Amino acid sequence: MEKKEKEQDFIVTPWEVKGEIDYDKLIEKFGVKRLDPSLYEALPKPLHVTLRRGLFFAHRDFDKWINAWKSKETVSIVTGRGPSGYMHIGHLIPFYFVKWLQEVTDAYLIIPFSDDEKYLVKTEKSMKEIRNYTIDNLINILAIGFNSKLTRIVIDTEDTIIYSLAMLISKYINYSTVRAVYGTKFKNIGWIFYPAMQAAHLLLPQVLFGKHYTLVPVAIDQDPHTRVCRDVAERFNLYKPTTIISKFLPTLENPYGKMSTSNPDSIIWLTDSEKDVYRKIMKYAFSGGQPTVEEHRKYGGNPWIDVSFLFLYYFFEEDDRKIEEIRENYQSGKMLTGELKKYASQKISEFLQEFQRKRKEVESNWKDEYEKFKLRDEEKEKILDFVYSF
Ligand code: TYM
Repeated sequence: MEKKEKEQDFIVTPWEVKGEIDYDKLIEKFGVKRLDPSLYEALPKPLHVTLRRGLFFAHRDFDKWINAWKSKETVSIVTGRGPSGYMHIGHLIPFYFVKWLQEVTDAYLIIPFSDDEKYLVKTEKSMKEIRNYTIDNLINILAIGFNSKLTRIVIDTEDTIIYSLAMLISKYINYSTVRAVYGTKFKNIGWIFYPAMQAAHLLLPQVLFGKHYTLVPVAIDQDPHTRVCRDVAERFNLYKPTTIISKFLPTLENPYGKMSTSNPDSIIWLTDSEKDVYRKIMKYAFSGGQPTVEEHRKYGGNPWIDVSFLFLYYFFEEDDRKIEEIRENYQSGKMLTGELKKYASQKISEFLQEFQRKRKEVESNWKDEYEKFKLRDEEKEKILDFVYSF
């Protein structure tokens, strides 16, 4: 992606993302590796759009996970949601990627809901509110349609058995590690313990299905949590979780920002209507076009800073030939900003309408559907057996 001059200050932690993000700097700062396409060559084609277009850009030990899968060993995936509010299109990305990855690899999948984390971090919200968001978000995840034979959903305050695993892990996480990873501005002591809960999520597949490689597909804000877990995994004779890390789907107003809930107009919600999407894209989507039609025809636009283009490129236009045609036409000035925005809002609306239809189908019987994904009694026993073996 071409770069414009960016502000130097940005923050990326699991609990705060601010400013214009420089992903190259984050690779260095977090000590992750750049994702080389040769790593995932063995995966069946067509690759998921987020892989093909480089939204996933970094990793830790993804090669080990791929090699294990190639050798037909058991492999698993963990990716979750912190239900702090309603969901936007950015939140869906890891889940759609994971749905594809599970389908092509037959991996086990655990989807944790860290309602405890969000209650502790979003201190203005009551547990009752968080619970409502948890159920709303859970229905979205169920609507995506995972394979219930291979997938489990855990909710931290409901599946309290996870606590015993977190407790075990927390013994080996020093306060100095937590300070080094997260800083010292904790609003309460819950923030200090929570990393042990997420570590428990990441080690859960190995506890349930024996020692094997687990992959954690997330955006880069979650990397600190993964780091803490990787630090302690081997103490329990388990593999460090491996990870594949994405950039953020940008906010409407800033191609280098993160779509996040702080400004409702810079977000496309999963519940948005065709009209909402059109209005927001037309009014707020940052454009890489020229100030006048004449200049645009003459100099062309810059797709790599154009949020409508980036939405299409990273997720909503899967057709490689079509996206290339749009890029070329926009860059040469043949396609105008208004035309690009209209096409992007159409594609996003089509996706959302289909998603909303599936959600409606699940909504009336979500409890029965959820039941299929809950931990079984023998799986809970395995967790306790594991804990009591130390
Ligand atoms: P949360 O709820 O903040 O975000 C859910 C997932 O979505 C990713 N994400 C985005 N991806 C692309 N574009 C965006 N604009 C965007 N915004 C958020 C996040 O990186 C995350 O992958 N602590 C976690 C939930 C969790 C979890 C886990 C995740 C609990 N246990 C185990 C992975 C593995 C959280 O609050 O995610």
